Amino acid sequence: MSISSKFLDALTPSAIRSITGQIRAKAAQGIEIYSFAGGLPDSNLFPVKELKDITDKVLETEGGDAIQYAASDGYDPLRNELVGLMKKKFSVENISYKNIFITSGSQQGLNYISKGLIEEGDIVVCETPTYVGAIDSIKSYGPRIVGIPMDNDGINLDKLEDVLKQYKDKVKFIYLIPDFQNPSGRCMSIEKRKKIVELAEQYDTYIYEDAPYSLISFTNQVMPAIKSFDKYDRVIYAGSFSKTIAPGIRVAWIVADEESIQKLIYMKMRDDLQVNNIAQRQVYGYLHNYDFDAHLRLINSTYMKRRDVMLQAVKDYFPKSTKVVKPEGGLFMWLEFDKDIDTLKMFDFVFSKNIAYVPGTFFCVGEQGLNTMRLNFATLHSDIIREKMKEFGLLIQEYLNG
Ligand SMILES: Cc1ncc(COP(=O)(O)O)c(C=O)c1O
Repeated sequence: MSISSKFLDALTPSAIRSITGQIRAKAAQGIEIYSFAGGLPDSNLFPVKELKDITDKVLETEGGDAIQYAASDGYDPLRNELVGLMKKKFSVENISYKNIFITSGSQQGLNYISKGLIEEGDIVVCETPTYVGAIDSIKSYGPRIVGIPMDNDGINLDKLEDVLKQYKDKVKFIYLIPDFQNPSGRCMSIEKRKKIVELAEQYDTYIYEDAPYSLISFTNQVMPAIKSFDKYDRVIYAGSFSKTIAPGIRVAWIVADEESIQKLIYMKMRDDLQVNNIAQRQVYGYLHNYDFDAHLRLINSTYMKRRDVMLQAVKDYFPKSTKVVKPEGGLFMWLEFDKDIDTLKMFDFVFSKNIAYVPGTFFCVGEQGLNTMRLNFATLHSDIIREKMKEFGLLIQEYLNG
């Protein structure tokens, strides 16, 4: 008999991982799928040689100590390095390594915050659309999730305040992706960043600032983190190297007040004890001894070119009425079609012709978003994007013609 509980039996696979599963099943039959679906950065851009050299050096110089059990809060040289990064890139001042906690991917941080904070009857507020992995993680702890529509410069503050007023003392945290949001590509304005900290203080709630895309900026302009305006210890900041170095190394970090960090460390002691030592040393070695900024320039210029190719293809080949948010960074493009195009229903048809995307409804909370979709422009090369987007446009036409 399989293991069973209310918690376990309510779990479902993530929508995107389900699509990835379908792609793998086709791959096993020798069929190649051109996927605009996943959140994958381009693996050809990962600094493989540098990570190999760092790993060799670590094992040569540290020997077995490098793979011994280690502290649950993270590798101190990396924590210190991140103090500098937070200040230099995101204007977060007055923190020390004690405000930094290393996690196994930012997904783990999100899970800890959800597991640690959410109690019966709680509400979690988020942008809609938002990252489907966050919806899944938060949902598993049973709160009501309330989605707030977005403007072009981030969450709509009037609607947010209405909800905070209406559910006073019930909103446990506000989940936000302020930079190059997944899936919409939008960025939150500085004014909103400041105001939202004040709202969190006024309505006695927290902000979870999920920021894995902040450094993938095509204008090379990086916004100050919401955390940089946090005078009240209301913001828990989560950064990640998944999109800038490589996701498989699973190194991310949280920035919060010392007491909160200590509580998260206690959770880690009960969970997986520590993040992989080698992975932490790889990231530390890379940040400390190599030119991370040059690497960012390379990935950003590559992704920007692909964004441009995709944008042009949407204009050339997709229905003329398609609305698109031009992303100035990140990995994703968000499309809105006329109401009669149901992207969820259309998925099977397009997938049967070996092209994948994510129907936008999966990212929506409290609205359906059936006429929307998210496309990843970062994974595939420009010439393939152009060719496959043309095919995709023709498939949409064919689908609409019945
Ligand atoms: C907004 C957001 N948060 C968190 C994650 C998870 O990232 P990580 O690989 O650091 O766990 C993702 C991954 O796509 C994401 O888009």
